[in-house]
Parts: sequence; C-alpha cells; structure tokens
Amino acid sequence: MENTTIVETHGLTKRYGSGVLAVDSVAMSVRRGEVYGFLGPNGAGKTTTLRMLVGLIRPTSGTATVAGHTPGDPHGLARVGSLIESSAFYPYLSGRANLRVVADLAGVDQKRVNEVLDVVELSSRAHRKFGTYSTGMKQRLGVAAALLKDPDLLILDEPTNGLDPQGMAEMRRLIKDIGQGNRTVLLSSHLLGEVEQICDRVGVISNGKLVRESTVQELIGEEGVLVRAQPLDKAEQMLATLFGNDAISRQDGALHLKVKPEQSSEINRRLVGAGIGVSELRPFERSLEEVFFQLTGERQGS
Ligand SMILES: Nc1ncnc2c1ncn2[C@@H]1O[C@H](COP(=O)(O)OP(=O)(O)OP(=O)(O)O)[C@@H](O)[C@H]1O
Ligand SMILES: [Mg+2]
Repeated sequence: MENTTIVETHGLTKRYGSGVLAVDSVAMSVRRGEVYGFLGPNGAGKTTTLRMLVGLIRPTSGTATVAGHTPGDPHGLARVGSLIESSAFYPYLSGRANLRVVADLAGVDQKRVNEVLDVVELSSRAHRKFGTYSTGMKQRLGVAAALLKDPDLLILDEPTNGLDPQGMAEMRRLIKDIGQGNRTVLLSSHLLGEVEQICDRVGVISNGKLVRESTVQELIGEEGVLVRAQPLDKAEQMLATLFGNDAISRQDGALHLKVKPEQSSEINRRLVGAGIGVSELRPFERSLEEVFFQLTGERQGS
C-alpha cells in the first residue's frame, strides 16, 4: 500500500437486500493529511460508504483499505475515529463522565479526556449532564469521543447536520483545526459551501457512483474575468474582437470573459484606451453549485 493514501477503495459496492444499489463500484482515495469532503445529495450513498469504511456493514463486493487494513480490523480501527451514527451517551452523566466511560472501554488514558474536551471547547461545560447539552454541544462531544484514540483518520458523517448557523460555523472551525498537521479528516456533506470552506479535495457521489474526485479548485475549474463597463455594448464588441465571441457571455449586467485573470490589466488598458469606463474588473470562478448541478443533476437544497 502506498503510504500517501489512507483510504482506498476498489469497486466498492453495497446492495441492500436484493433491491437498492446504494453504492456502485466506488473507487475513492483519500490522501494522508487532507480534509476530504464526500459530497452528494440525499440518498446518494454517503452514509452507506462511510459505514463500510469503518466496518459497520459489509460491502456486497469490492474492497477497501483504511489506515492500512481491511475495514473493521482491530489494528486499523485503533487508528480511526468516527462519528457516523449519533453517539449513544448517557443523558444523566456529565460530558466528562461520558468520555471517561468511552476512554475506559477503548483503553485510552483518562488524561486524554481533558485534552479532547479542550480541543472541542467543552471544558467549561464538561461537568454538566449530557442530557442538558444543546445539539451542537452533543455533536462536539461526539467528535471529542472520536478523538480519544488520537486517530490518524477521523471519519465524520454530516457533522454539521441539525446544527444552527452558529453551531455549524463552530463545527467547521473545529474540523479545520483537527485537520491541521498529519491527521486526515474524511467528512460527508450535502452542503457545497461547507465543503468549499473546509476541504482540500472532494469526492462527489451521485446515485451510488463516484462521479468526480478532485481538489475543490479543479472542480470549480474554469476561471475567468468579470468586467463591468460603460457603455457595455461597446465593451462587449471590443472584447469580442480581442478574444472571440465564444469567450464572452453577459450575466447580470456584467461581462464574463473566459480568459486568464493575468490578462486583466491588458483588458483594462484596452477598454480605457477606447474611452470605455471600467467600473469593475476582477477574477471570477464558476460557482461550485453550477458544477455540482452538472455532475449530479441536483440543485442545492439547503
Ligand atoms: N439499511 C438500509 N436498507 C435499505 N436501503 C437503505 C438502507 N440504508 C440506506 N438505504 C438506501 O441506500 C441509498 C443510499 O443511502 P445513504 O443513507 O447511504 O445515502 P446518504 O448519501 O447518506 O443520504 P443522506 O444525505 O440522506 O444522509 C438510499 O437509496 C437509501 O434509501
Ligand atoms: Mg447519510
């Protein structure tokens, strides 16, 4: 196995009963140290895939290597932390006491409990009963539990699901922090903005198939330049002569040019030289939403 990959699957497939083909020949690879976003609409097969990776369910066919081992192998599991099903904590025990129970079961030194409480910023509320925690706090305690073993790989299934905007923002910041350094984070999400904000690379899954795997930048792909100018028609004509009709489109009163951002200053010089007033000139990117729609046929729901 290559040392640079921490998760690798080949033809990974899951059929539930004789019916739904939930995951269809997925070949994904997650590199060590990255934050990898597993992106897909509802029902795409994200949870099913992650469950296979941690050995909660068996694939119908195909293989996976996770932290150097077959999913579910105790040696591999020792290096993998996960939050897939919402964690079962005791409501009448404090957050800290709950983690102590988990640490005990996992054979982890109790002093690690306070460390992970610090990481998820729950130390000041660790004495409170779990049952009184907000959804965001519960979720963070789940992450803390997943971190107890100081895992090389953290697998999180929709970690911001059900959180309010502030809770989501806190969780994203936490994931970014956790993903610093050598630790790898594999998280699923159906939120484009989220993946864009925190992930180095993404795998896009649709109807059980991995339709794309690349960096967020590569996924967004084509860069261009946006121009607002007066008079717009004259600017459009001039730029069409320079770059060709195919390179220009008009959107919301601005011109989108498929050219390299480095050409901005030349564009500015030419327009101004022709007596055209330039009010805005900047690089723009295709939105991830557009790309996602092209790949999955799904508009972003929430
Ligand atoms: N235990 C199960 N038995 C039968 N079908 C299942 C089971 N779990 C999931 N499925 C089906 O498998 C497909 C993939 O489901 P999965 O939960 O993996 O999707 P997901 O990408 O996690 O979706 P969501 O964003 O809603 O969490 C869906 O069609 C779902 O109905
Ligand atoms: Mg799911």
